Amino acid sequence: MTHSTSLLGLGLYVPEQILTNKDLEQTLETSDAWITSRTGIKTRHIAPSGTGSANLALEAAHHALADAGMTPADLTHIIVPTFTPDSYVPSTACILQHRLGIAGIPALDIFAACSGFLYGLEQARALIALYPKARILVAASEVISSRTDFTDRSTCVLFGDGAGAAIVGGMTDQKAIGHIRDMMLQADGSLGHLLTVKGGGSASPPIRGQHIGPEFFIQMEGRDVFKHAVRSMTQVCQAILDRNGLTVSDIDLVIPHQANIRIIQALGKRLHVSPDRIFVNVERYGNTSAASVPIALAEARQQGRIAAGDTVLLTSFGGGFTWAAALIQFENPF
Ligand code: ACO
Repeated sequence: MTHSTSLLGLGLYVPEQILTNKDLEQTLETSDAWITSRTGIKTRHIAPSGTGSANLALEAAHHALADAGMTPADLTHIIVPTFTPDSYVPSTACILQHRLGIAGIPALDIFAACSGFLYGLEQARALIALYPKARILVAASEVISSRTDFTDRSTCVLFGDGAGAAIVGGMTDQKAIGHIRDMMLQADGSLGHLLTVKGGGSASPPIRGQHIGPEFFIQMEGRDVFKHAVRSMTQVCQAILDRNGLTVSDIDLVIPHQANIRIIQALGKRLHVSPDRIFVNVERYGNTSAASVPIALAEARQQGRIAAGDTVLLTSFGGGFTWAAALIQFENPF
């Protein structure tokens, strides 16, 4: 499938309200110094109460459509990677489709936690193999604050809300920003227990009148997640480079999942990529899960970090566990 899938537009959106480490110091036994040194995060954006992921996805989608010079009516499919959907039913993708005013086209959510965007992009590639004229919106969106226990200092300092969107099309597009050269997705369900949000699922259903316990919020074994994230992203990046006959010296920019600066630095060290070739914005947004890679990709391009001819390596890791890598060739990033 080399060079058969084009990126036509990118967009991002984060809610206005900013929660700083100083703000968190007021309500938790934590400090700016601890959060900064352990995670690199300084601020994160938080959606107003009652805001669903579809709201954020809609804003990011409008930006991506404008970037592609398209209108909602040009879309043929909608994919929404999220682990914080507006509701179980209807899906966030169906809510988004309604708000875009384009009833009729297929719309579905994808659950792959922080790897959701790359998993969504691979589904888009597969759809384009079936329907070469497809124009697919992949809008990763998370309101993680809805599943964050703000009394748990070991998790609540890490996450933020946001959305990142891409418009993906087939080979015939003239105005492509770049092409997806290759993708690799992996998962290991035997490690799923290390990072969970169980409450409300069919195996842990809500019971009327029952106390909402910690299982309704993100729970994780931070150190184990850290180790697996570094190991798995290193392995999948190396594997996709090998499969394409490339080495890290062929990569102009690495855009990793923005979970924690120490994970990103450890990945860079293991891949032997210098920090100036790794894009980082975790200090401003925290971990936005599925939205983290498309937000970083859109922002790297806005900041002029991607030039014509560049090869960019995307990689992510998240609950499940799931992890992935993508090679993007940028022909016309401006
Ligand atoms: N402020 C102050 N102290 C804290 C805080 C906090 N916010 N959180 C934890 N601590 C304390 C702990 O209670 C512990 O205290 P103790 O030694 O008295 O028991 C101490 O700090 C050390 O805790 P550790 O968990 O060992 O700290 P660590 O250095 O591992 O850092 C962290 C914790 C930041 C969570 C790290 O493990 C991590 O980043 N893991 C990856 C998790 C992640 O990014 N998950 C996101 C989802 S998956 C993904 O996106 C990759």
